[in-house]
Amino acid sequence: MNSLENIVQQAREDFAGAPDPAALENAKARYLGKTGQITEQMKGLGKLAPDERKRQGALINAAKEQIESALNAARDALSDAQMQARLSAEAIDVTLPGRGRGVGGIHPVMRSWQRVEQIFGSIGFDVADGPEIENDWTNFTALNSPENHPARSMQDTFYIADNDTLGKPLLLRTHTSPMQVRYARMHQPPIKVIAPGRTYRVDSDATHSPMFHQVEGLWIDENISFADLKGVYLNFVRAFFETDDLQVRFRPSYFPFTEPSAEIDIAFGSGPLKGRWLEVSGAGQVHPTVIRNMGLDPERYIGFAFGSGLERLTMLRYGINDLRLFYEGDLRFLKQFN
Ligand code: DAH
Repeated sequence: MNSLENIVQQAREDFAGAPDPAALENAKARYLGKTGQITEQMKGLGKLAPDERKRQGALINAAKEQIESALNAARDALSDAQMQARLSAEAIDVTLPGRGRGVGGIHPVMRSWQRVEQIFGSIGFDVADGPEIENDWTNFTALNSPENHPARSMQDTFYIADNDTLGKPLLLRTHTSPMQVRYARMHQPPIKVIAPGRTYRVDSDATHSPMFHQVEGLWIDENISFADLKGVYLNFVRAFFETDDLQVRFRPSYFPFTEPSAEIDIAFGSGPLKGRWLEVSGAGQVHPTVIRNMGLDPERYIGFAFGSGLERLTMLRYGINDLRLFYEGDLRFLKQFN
């Protein structure tokens, strides 16, 4: 059997070498546990004569105390080390610069949307919003594009598996023009409204995106003419492009919902696009059939409508030549507008 000093010495070494609290508790058991070496020494006392027992008992107790204090020291050392490890793992270097916070910005197309609302709002136009999932009647029929009419194929439509109440498939609106009818059926003339929003067509290339934005305009009263359209639209493009050095022309065109119909072109008097006629909008005098579908009397009410592409206006304003840039989410592109 080991002498007491040896046991104490061995315990000190064991404790000091324990890598973690679990190992330390195992080591403790070898000395102070039920069958530990000190415990065994205690058990042996009963066999000794009273004097010897007293002397040996005192020695064992002293050894036990030394072992306990070595144990406590080892426990403290381990928990200190653990704390140090945690502190250095979680260390915060307060001298490092902060991470900063990315500041978002408004997408250029949304900027145009806001500008358009602001400009038309300033001349008394209401702003209306409507569903992007439309029914066949409102998107086509009410706008004088009856079924099987070739004009329907002017727009490649995304259809939805569900039908409307008339049994026709629902669709993603191909233009904002259905808002003319929706709004007019809920308001009394004079009707003076714009309806900006998302529109959808099966189309994708440098100048077409399957999702894009339009702004519809509608002014119906008893005496609204092409002259009013020209004045309103000229005022709009001058405000939008922030220049009076700009011309507008109306080019005859065809849309089922207007008669006569026109394409509106603009030409800047200066800048990189100087002198080139650029198409910015479809427009026309609202067709009597459409006026009737609005629930109004075409003998009494007359007016104009227009539909302009927000991407197109945005591209012209900033000199962007590829529509797809708007939807790629590339921050190098988007950051330029903020
Ligand atoms: N809805 C037409 C399109 O998407 C644009 C348009 C043309 C709207 C003439 C109008 C209009 O209101 O009068 O191609």
